[in-house]
Amino acid sequence: MAWWDNAVVYQIYPRSFQDSDGDGAGDLRGITARLDYLAWLGVDAFWLSPIYPSPLADFGYDVSDYTDVAPEYGKLEDFDELVAAAHDRGLRVLLDLIPCHTSIEHPWFREHPDWYIWSPVEGPPNNWVSAFGGPAWSRDERTGRWYLHSFYPEQPDLDWQNPAVVEAFQGVVRFWLDRGVDGFRLDAIDKLIKDDRLRDDPPASGDFPLPLRPDAAKLERVYSGHRPEAIDTLGTIRAAAGDALLVGEVFQPTHEYPPYLEVLDLVFAFELLFAPWDAARLRAAIAPAAELGRVAWVMSNHDFDRLATRLGPAHVRAAATLLLTLPGTTFVYQGDEIGLANGPGADPPYDRAGRDPMRHPMQWDTSATGGFTTGVPWLPAVDPTERNVEAQRADPDSLLHHYRGLIARRKDLGPFRLLDSEPDVLAYERGDEVIAIETKPG
Ligand code: GLC
Repeated sequence: MAWWDNAVVYQIYPRSFQDSDGDGAGDLRGITARLDYLAWLGVDAFWLSPIYPSPLADFGYDVSDYTDVAPEYGKLEDFDELVAAAHDRGLRVLLDLIPCHTSIEHPWFREHPDWYIWSPVEGPPNNWVSAFGGPAWSRDERTGRWYLHSFYPEQPDLDWQNPAVVEAFQGVVRFWLDRGVDGFRLDAIDKLIKDDRLRDDPPASGDFPLPLRPDAAKLERVYSGHRPEAIDTLGTIRAAAGDALLVGEVFQPTHEYPPYLEVLDLVFAFELLFAPWDAARLRAAIAPAAELGRVAWVMSNHDFDRLATRLGPAHVRAAATLLLTLPGTTFVYQGDEIGLANGPGADPPYDRAGRDPMRHPMQWDTSATGGFTTGVPWLPAVDPTERNVEAQRADPDSLLHHYRGLIARRKDLGPFRLLDSEPDVLAYERGDEVIAIETKPG
C-alpha cells in the first residue's frame, strides 16, 4: 500500500498561508510555524503551490528559476527546515512542478531559444488559443519571431521534443528529491506535448464537461495538447522521480485519464470539482472516477471559486463529508476547513484571469489581518471575526472539528459502493456504514 492511499493532502497557497516577517506575503518560515496545526488537523501531506522565483505574471506559475526559492518566501535553508519539521511530524511534502512553460524571464528563454516552440512563419501558424483567452502565439519583440504560450504571453511553452529540455527537467526533479520532497503535483500536464505539425485544432464537436473560456470552448483541442505521445514523455519525469508521488493536473474528463495513469499515480478528478450540488450530477461525476480508482478527489483549489462560494455556506458540511469519505486520496484547499468564501480580490486585480478572490489569506484569529501578518497583507482578510481557526478549534461543533473528525475516521472506512437512492440523495456504503449526502436546496 502506498502512503497516499486514503491520504488527505492539504493544499497550501504559500503567499496566503502565514507571513513570518511582516512583508504582507506568506513565506516558508510561516508555514513551518503552522505545521502543528496541520498535524492537529490530521492530514497526511501538504502540497505547496509554487515557491520558486517568479515575476508573478501568473503568481508563481511563471517560474524564472526551478531550483531556488522566491526571495519573499525565504531561502533554500528555510525549505530544508520546513521539510525536516514536516517529516518530524509525519507530514509529507509535495511541490508544484510546472514543466509545460517557464516565465519569459527565465534565462533559458534567451540562452536556449531552441528549448521553446516557435512559429515557422511570420505570425501565428495555426488557430490555437491560450487557456486565458486570445491567441496562443505572441511576437517576441527582441527577435521578431512568434512563440507559443498555452497560458499567458509571459509563459512561453517549452519544447519537450527537445532532449535537452527533458534532461534539464529531470535535473530539477532530482534536485528537489535530494532535498527530501515526497512528490509533485504536475501542472497542466495535458499540455506537455503539442502536435509537431502544428495542425489547426478542429471545431468543437460536443460539449466539453469542464469549463473553458469562450474561444477555447469553440475548438476540439486535439493538436494543441492532450497528445498520445505525451505519455512517453511523461515517462521521463517518472524515470527521474522514481517512486515519489506524481499527481497530474489533466484538464480533461475522467474517461481520458487512463493513459496518464500509466505513468502518474493519481489524476485530479475535475468532474467532481465542477459538479453542481445535485445528487444525480455528483453521482455522475463520482461513479466513473471511483471505478477508475487512483483519482485525487478535489472540490476546490486556487483557480476556481472557493467551496463555500460555489456550493453556498449551507452545504459546506455535507460537502466535507462527501469529500472525506470518498475512497482513495483527497485534496483539501486551505481555508475550506473553516468555510472561507471568496473575498473581494484586489483593485486593480493582480491576476488578469480573475482569480484573486480565491486566494485571500488564511484566517487564524480575530485580528484585522486574521493573524496572517503583522504587516499589510497582499490581499486583505475576508471575515476573520466571522470565522477563524482559533475560534473553531475552541468549538467542538465547528466546521473545523467536522473536518478533523472526518479525517480521523477516514483510514478505517470500509470498501466503497454506490447505492441506489431517492432523488436529492447521494448514497454509498463504506463497508457496513451507509453514507447519505442530501442535496436538497437550502
Ligand atoms: C494550472 C494552475 C494555474 C496556472 C496554470 C498555468 O492550471 O493551477 O494556477 O495559471 O496552470 O500554469
